[in-house]
Amino acid sequence: MKSRSYRSGLCISAVMFLLLAGVAGSAFAQHRHAPPQPTGPWMNTGLSPDERADLVLKEMTLDEKIAMLHGIGTPTDEPVTPENAPSNRGVGYDVGVPRLGIPGIDMSDAAYGVRSSGVNGRYSTALPADVAAAASWDTGAAFEYGALIGRELRAQGYNMSLGGGVDITREPRNGRTFEYLGEDPVLAGTLVAKLIEGTQSAHVIGDIKHYAFNDQESGRNAVNIHIGERAARESDLLAFEIGVTEGHPAAVMCSYNRVNGDFSCENKYLLRDVLKTDWKFPGFVLSDWGGTHSTEKASAAGLDNEEPGSIFYGDRFKAAVEAGTIPTAEMDEHVHRILRSMFAAGVIDYPRQRSVVDPFEGFKIARKIEEGSIVLLKNERAALPLDAAGLHTIAVIGAHSDVGMISGGGSAQVDPIGGNAIMPPGQGATHWQEEIWFPTSPLKAIEARAPKAVVKYDAGTDPAAAAELAKSADVAIVFAYQWESEGMDLPTLSLPHNQDALIAAVSVANPHTIVVLETGSPVTMPWVHAPAAILEAWYGGSDGADAVGNVLFGSVNPSGKLPNTFPKSEADLPHPTLTLPPPESEHFSGPVSEEKRAEGLPPFQVTYDEGVKVGYKWYDAENKPVLFPFGYGLSYTTYQYSGLDVTPGNKVKVTFTLANTGAREGSEIAEVYAALPGAAQEPPKRLVGFTKIMLAAGEKKTVTLQIDPKYLSIFNVDKNGWELLPGDYTIMVGGSSQSLPLKATIHLQ
Ligand code: BGC
Repeated sequence: MKSRSYRSGLCISAVMFLLLAGVAGSAFAQHRHAPPQPTGPWMNTGLSPDERADLVLKEMTLDEKIAMLHGIGTPTDEPVTPENAPSNRGVGYDVGVPRLGIPGIDMSDAAYGVRSSGVNGRYSTALPADVAAAASWDTGAAFEYGALIGRELRAQGYNMSLGGGVDITREPRNGRTFEYLGEDPVLAGTLVAKLIEGTQSAHVIGDIKHYAFNDQESGRNAVNIHIGERAARESDLLAFEIGVTEGHPAAVMCSYNRVNGDFSCENKYLLRDVLKTDWKFPGFVLSDWGGTHSTEKASAAGLDNEEPGSIFYGDRFKAAVEAGTIPTAEMDEHVHRILRSMFAAGVIDYPRQRSVVDPFEGFKIARKIEEGSIVLLKNERAALPLDAAGLHTIAVIGAHSDVGMISGGGSAQVDPIGGNAIMPPGQGATHWQEEIWFPTSPLKAIEARAPKAVVKYDAGTDPAAAAELAKSADVAIVFAYQWESEGMDLPTLSLPHNQDALIAAVSVANPHTIVVLETGSPVTMPWVHAPAAILEAWYGGSDGADAVGNVLFGSVNPSGKLPNTFPKSEADLPHPTLTLPPPESEHFSGPVSEEKRAEGLPPFQVTYDEGVKVGYKWYDAENKPVLFPFGYGLSYTTYQYSGLDVTPGNKVKVTFTLANTGAREGSEIAEVYAALPGAAQEPPKRLVGFTKIMLAAGEKKTVTLQIDPKYLSIFNVDKNGWELLPGDYTIMVGGSSQSLPLKATIHLQ
């Protein structure tokens, strides 16, 4: 794991910046006041991005080409130079071709909002965690999510996003589960495609990552993942395939880990054979930060750009081209891909233009997405929604719910307005791997919605004291959290800090106990039978508290569904224990020479012997009962499915009727699964389609979905392609992977 120090980085950078601004003087001033307007035949927008890229390429010198193939360091750690001065001090910067008016690529992490705005003295909206967006199952929301990120990146002077995480949740203890979109490749792939489309709609280069199989953080720079080809193509790679072919990201970030022996960033199978040949990806591949390990091998395998520096793609690359060990055509292909992506994403035609981010709109969108993402897991005796008029006393307990809500950490971290909510005001700039609490107070949101009630808060650190308070209240609302971050995995899926005991004690003391979870991964719930209601609120973003308040008091009807299975226990996971790296694979001891870097940390082996059986496919196939199934979520209204009609064809057509049988408006996520013919030897079912439909009380709608034939196919390794096997397919429709009232079997040829 790399360490970062933004604060010290800022101080040095800021001083150097001021010094160099004087020295670099006019060039930088010119940039600030009038960004270079590229001119040249490549500015003919009637030409294709490929044609335009070739026109630029023809004019470039060898040094200019090499300069395009790598970053110039992590700006916050490096002194400011005339070349990187225009950068907004994100996490990576490529210089472009100033002589030809081709701008630099200024990259910022942006998983759930723009990172590092604090060090830049700016504001960024924190959206709910990506896993929350996945729980919305809402393609429109995913687009809006990406579009907000794109707009805020642009306003802050960036023209490239490092977001779009889509490694499926094979290992729910992965500390980055909150940054990803759940366990199913069709759900995750469809949503990431929309998110990328949204980001790129703001003329910002979009990215999809971490390609591929970066499913655990422990030993991520060393681990060697073993997986069979068919299982790989039908699971993790399918999510990327959908993301790449439907979302058209300009960039793909290859991951730190090894896959079947080779590092991802020099893995010919992943980069050249699958991504660039089979999926016809026309954009560029950049390495994860420090994930490049070679020059000739990586280049031949298909890595186009080294980040953040130039160990392998700088002087070494130039020497290799001059020596003929890297053909000029190969180098030109890398440069072409970068340039064509810049034209395709619009970063050349629509130069960066700083502006002021709209925080009000940001809050509104963040809240709206969170409202559509919260999952109601349990609601006995209609404990929710709360009726403010009937409540005299409310106990609010735990998880710093007096001041804030937790966020996910690492390179995804968005800086909270005013600093970390649990720190003294004005302090609390974000630090690597520190719990960051957004100043969005559930306590205040609850008080605002129940103005006549007495609302009392207990920190929840002493279960007995919390239970005492709960006993005296009409309703007890316990907030519980599980923080996670890049650079670590969860030791277990249990709630930390004695919160299981807290929930159990409060639920015994007050039968009207509501639990609100703030987690990125599934958690185990030894207390599940005790509280009256349970909400999963994920990491709720900038305005999480208002969204939770609106769901608790019923102005919003919950409509999210789980994008990850919640297992009963870790013993039920495909790998009950996480394979941890031996000490020598954790980090280098002593100075890291280029040779050591090239070799990488010694590998340790993780074998995905569960193959394609990820998430619900595993529990289904192994007959393991779960706590809450994939695709599950309740509502304050009820829905009924009827009248299934399935018509074979190039795209199988699935039609059914969905009715809101309750007394209030709601949005239902309808899920379509398929069981393949026995000969396919697949798990019992797979998700093949979904849609989210708003229905007024009593309303009925006819719903039609067209199923992509790929989703009904197997990957035939011998033919290197998707194959629809002839046979009987059972199509199942309903409101969760374990509640599928409609079934029909069709024969496909
Ligand atoms: C992370 C990437 C991130 C990059 C730049 C890496 O450690 O894995 O997701 O984009 O750093 O911050």
